[in-house]
Amino acid sequence: MSLRTWPRLVTLEGGEGAGKSTVLAALRGAFEAAGIQAVYTREPGGTPLAEQIRGLMLDTQHEPATDETELLLAFAARAQHVRATVLPALQRGAWVVSDRFTDASYAYQGAGRGGDAAFIAELERRVVGIRPALTLLLDVPVDVGLARMRGRGAADRIESERNEFFERVRQGYRDRAAAEPARFEVIDAAQPAEAVAAQAVARLRALIAATAEGAA
Ligand SMILES: Nc1ncnc2c1ncn2[C@@H]1O[C@H](COP(=O)(O)OP(=O)(O)O)[C@@H](O)[C@H]1O
Ligand SMILES: [Mg+2]
Repeated sequence: MSLRTWPRLVTLEGGEGAGKSTVLAALRGAFEAAGIQAVYTREPGGTPLAEQIRGLMLDTQHEPATDETELLLAFAARAQHVRATVLPALQRGAWVVSDRFTDASYAYQGAGRGGDAAFIAELERRVVGIRPALTLLLDVPVDVGLARMRGRGAADRIESERNEFFERVRQGYRDRAAAEPARFEVIDAAQPAEAVAAQAVARLRALIAATAEGAA
């Protein structure tokens, strides 16, 4: 299987507290105002089975998952998500917005945990097979993102990591954006939420304008 880019697949990436959920709500508003049907989903998760796998990944109750276990759980969840949720929506012509996608594995299981990027790329080709046309990377200093997360309840297994881990994740995301500038829009997510949302929506509108909806 080779990688196919889907023009109506948009992903949101960034660290903890970067503002992904906040931007997703703004994108939803833009789609609804334009009368365009879209599916809003997230990773890990996005189907009942994949949400169960998410629970396994983030649970702090059982013994710690090894790095290899975490990587394969992430791709097991993604395999299900792609086939059960993302592709059916794209194939019927809907847009799909996913709060995190494969870039998150390069950043977290790759740059963060030290996983082999070539192996992740192999999994991407053989298990996922699709790429978004647009990835909005919400880039924020680690301490700013973590401060926004405070008061959100008990930290899950990944949220409990040390700052060095989150710094590697942030750099991993920035390296991916630098390598693929046409696909990525890097947004300074330390700005006020309104400014972040405005940049995200403007970039989405440009993508919509480049598709059939924009021409119609
Ligand atoms: N640009 C921003 N400036 C300040 N606070 C923000 C901004 N974006 C989001 N927030 C707040 O920070 C917290 C985390 O945002 P959220 O969208 O849930 O992040 P994520 O989904 O990336 O973890 C929320 O309380 C949200 O209201
Ligand atoms: Mg969120």
